[in-house]
Amino acid sequence: MYYTIDGLRMFVDERGAAQPEVILFVHGFPFDHSMWTNQMAVFSAHYHCIAPDLRGHGGTSAVVPNDNQSMTLDRMAGDLLALLDQLAPRKPVTLCGLSMGGYIAFAMWRRQPGRFARLVLADTKATPDTPEVLARRQAQADTVKAEGAKAISTSMINGLLARQHRDDVIGVSVRRMIESTSAQGIIATLHALAGRPDSTQTLATIDIPTLVIVGEKDQTTPPADAHYMVERLPANPRFIMIPQAGHLSPLENPAAFNTALSDFLAGS
Ligand code: MLT
Repeated sequence: MYYTIDGLRMFVDERGAAQPEVILFVHGFPFDHSMWTNQMAVFSAHYHCIAPDLRGHGGTSAVVPNDNQSMTLDRMAGDLLALLDQLAPRKPVTLCGLSMGGYIAFAMWRRQPGRFARLVLADTKATPDTPEVLARRQAQADTVKAEGAKAISTSMINGLLARQHRDDVIGVSVRRMIESTSAQGIIATLHALAGRPDSTQTLATIDIPTLVIVGEKDQTTPPADAHYMVERLPANPRFIMIPQAGHLSPLENPAAFNTALSDFLAGS
């Protein structure tokens, strides 16, 4: 269904609405709510599961008429906090973000920590972009501006997925998500990603139960990035490495991801 947030028409996949506890699933770049399809199907039996399409992705437009503010991850965080205002959950929320979704989760935590009961940081990192990544983002933005999203999808898929998933049904669904994101959405989000702050100091403030998950073959935010977060999170975080998965562990190995999430929910 659609919600209106700050003049934006935001698409939200929402299931299990009768359940009192909310899990908010925040997707990565440049994907949409459907990357959480295997989690929505399972966890909506016991939780009110919410998977929005972020500004500029999926069914949510990149541009609001007469809006001259730029796209930032902090603004995307504000969109999600406004969505929670509308949903008015009865209990504190479990916030689960993958990669860019994790960067956005840090921004949400900095703004309104009292809203959250648990945090899941999947295939993400706290540190900002290196000069090499900044240069790659600029090159991607230039390519997408000239030739559209299809021009970057194959190289992105090769960097995102474990080799065995690149040409199977998972590769097909990731290609569909990338290629259906508008050029405008991709370019604006690349700039937003490049401009995000270092969240290392934020880690020390996260005093709620936290689960850190990473695909063993994640090349974008490798296991070393997960260890970096685990070492700095104060509340004895859980750490799970997902076998046979790259950067999109909830899609590449949903059974292992769901077991990790379900054990965490049951134990915290
Ligand atoms: C993502 O999956 O959200 C992106 O890989 C994040 C990034 O490029 O830093």
